Amino acid sequence: MSNQTREARGIARLVVKVLTLAAFALGAVGAHAGIANTKHNLGADNAANENYMTTGTTEICVFCHTPHASNTAVQAPLWNKPVAAGTSYTTYTTATSATIDGSVDMSGISLACLSCHDGTQAMDTMINKPGSGGYAAAGAAITGGVWTGARQSSGAMTNAGEFISMLGTDLTNDHPVGIQYCGGGVSTGGAVTTAASTGSCRDADFNAPANGLIGGHRAWWVDTSAGANGSRQKTDMILYARAPTLAGDATSGQYQPFVECASCHDPHTENATFLRVPNTQSAVCLACHNK
Ligand code: HEC
Ligand code: HEC
Ligand code: HEC
Ligand code: HEC
Repeated sequence: MSNQTREARGIARLVVKVLTLAAFALGAVGAHAGIANTKHNLGADNAANENYMTTGTTEICVFCHTPHASNTAVQAPLWNKPVAAGTSYTTYTTATSATIDGSVDMSGISLACLSCHDGTQAMDTMINKPGSGGYAAAGAAITGGVWTGARQSSGAMTNAGEFISMLGTDLTNDHPVGIQYCGGGVSTGGAVTTAASTGSCRDADFNAPANGLIGGHRAWWVDTSAGANGSRQKTDMILYARAPTLAGDATSGQYQPFVECASCHDPHTENATFLRVPNTQSAVCLACHNK
């Protein structure tokens, strides 16, 4: 073998090593974001979640999602649980605050979070239970599941000690949800079919949201400093669009952005308290509020 060939092979081996290391590093990043190690793993395999565990299944996603026969009455992807009507909740409104501007419409994705966090139904109430069979449109508990832990009662969420995860149905002491962004929504701008809306916030106390047409529908979000600007990512504050049915918006053709639980929270992240970005120096609050 000539020196040149040997050198070429050496370089080739080095390239392979570098690529392998890079692939390993990428894989490690992917594996890092793990719902399995969080409080949102309610299955039997999460020993860390001693407060909420059922012996009924080791699956994780099934407590919230099903690949088939999901609940289309709620704006949450492939949702596997019955949800309460929006009218079941007392919301943060003008009765609570003299300065609030936005209209509240409790028909959005917050109902999905509340299907556990209001404490009214067992957390293993599912439309499509694990395995073949087990479909029940009104929802049913996992067969043979036994709940353990202090902060549950027959599998429904309760509060104990200093923990307040169970929000109940009175939401007047919680940050408003199901509420228009921008202090009453976006005032003007392109119709629903144009790529970018130039609409501006009705209230300058809010940072202007980014928007775009995704799959033919208006999508809104508030860019955070995490990740690239201008494209929607899960580390942005996601705003949830509603058809323009609210008074005053009916003629503009504009899908209005709303704040929901999942605007601030990503139910799959390993960040503390499932926040989309860590709340260092109140980064979550300052993403939206211009204070
Ligand atoms: C505790 C409830 C819960 C569990 C458990 C859960 N999800 Fe979700 N998931 C949600 C909610 C709520 C949304 C909608 C949130 C949003 O709009 O970003 C969602 C959205 C998603 C989305 C679309 C948005 C995104 O962030 O990519 C995917 C994909 C997804 N979930 C996959 C999974 C998988 C896979 C599992 C199991 C490993 C899982 N989820 C477990 C509640 C859950
Ligand atoms: C299947 C039931 C279920 C659903 C649906 C669900 N959660 Fe949870 N969530 C839990 C359980 C159980 C805990 C653990 C509570 C505890 O330990 O006190 C939890 C914990 C949390 C916590 C952290 C509390 C803490 O002290 O660390 C947050 C924040 C949270 N959930 C937000 C959400 C949001 C937002 C949604 C919707 C996007 C959602 N959850 C949907 C069951 C659920
Ligand atoms: C405007 C942002 C925002 C919205 C909207 C929001 N949260 Fe939170 N939530 C937070 C922040 C920030 C924390 C962390 C508070 C802390 O560190 O004490 C939190 C904490 C929590 C906790 C843990 C409670 C605690 O302090 O021990 C739960 C459970 C929770 N949220 C559930 C929800 C649910 C369910 C909804 C919708 C009904 C919701 N959140 C809507 C920002 C939000
Ligand atoms: C996703 C955007 C968003 C985030 C993040 C957010 N807020 Fe809000 N906040 C709103 C909207 C929209 C309203 C409703 C304002 C209105 O309609 O006048 C609101 C209302 C409030 C109000 C009541 C205002 C009033 O006039 O009664 C307070 C206080 C508040 N937010 C504090 C916070 C704090 C503290 C945080 C961080 C923990 C936070 N917000 C995070 C969007 C957000």
